[in-house]
Amino acid sequence: MRRTNIFLENPLDPTNVGCIIRDVYAFDAGTLYYPKSFKTKISKFHGCACGTENKVRIQKFDDATDFLKKTNFRKIGFVAQTNATLITDPDFKFKDGDLLIFGNEKTGLTNEAKQLCDELVTIPTLGYMACLNVAHSVAISLYEVLRQKIEIGAITIKKNKVIE
Ligand SMILES: C[S@@+](CC[C@H](N)C(=O)[O-])C[C@H]1O[C@@H](n2cnc3c(N)ncnc32)[C@H](O)[C@@H]1O
Repeated sequence: MRRTNIFLENPLDPTNVGCIIRDVYAFDAGTLYYPKSFKTKISKFHGCACGTENKVRIQKFDDATDFLKKTNFRKIGFVAQTNATLITDPDFKFKDGDLLIFGNEKTGLTNEAKQLCDELVTIPTLGYMACLNVAHSVAISLYEVLRQKIEIGAITIKKNKVIE
């Protein structure tokens, strides 16, 4: 089973990236991609990542648009937009090896990145605030990947142990 990968287009906050590293480890996701221009040292993630910063595969890219143009991953962009596919839509299914793409904390995904995505997906919210913290969005998306795998019987959870 190919793992789900996480791509951060242009993150700003090391605290968020540390939490995302922990999410990647917790949900046994694949590679975490972020730009070389995000210069925080791996050791700075320690507080939020709780030691998982040395256990997760991290790859840095030069240019997001260039990477997204060249990659063979199916690209799923996450946006707080009402015209995107709802993650809860029963017809929307994650696939093995997807690349889940998340935007900048202030400005979200760029238009270039959105245009290069195969699908734009949104996490529904009930209150006024549609826009979630990026690390929370990653955690929800990886949980939904897990939930869908359980639903189709691809994995079974027994007392918090995953059987593939
Ligand atoms: C703090 S938000 C970006 C805020 C920005 N002002 C905007 O409108 O996109 C950071 C990232 O988290 C993800 N995100 C936040 N809320 C989301 C939602 N409801 N559904 C899907 N992704 C979401 C998106 O990838 C977004 O680019």
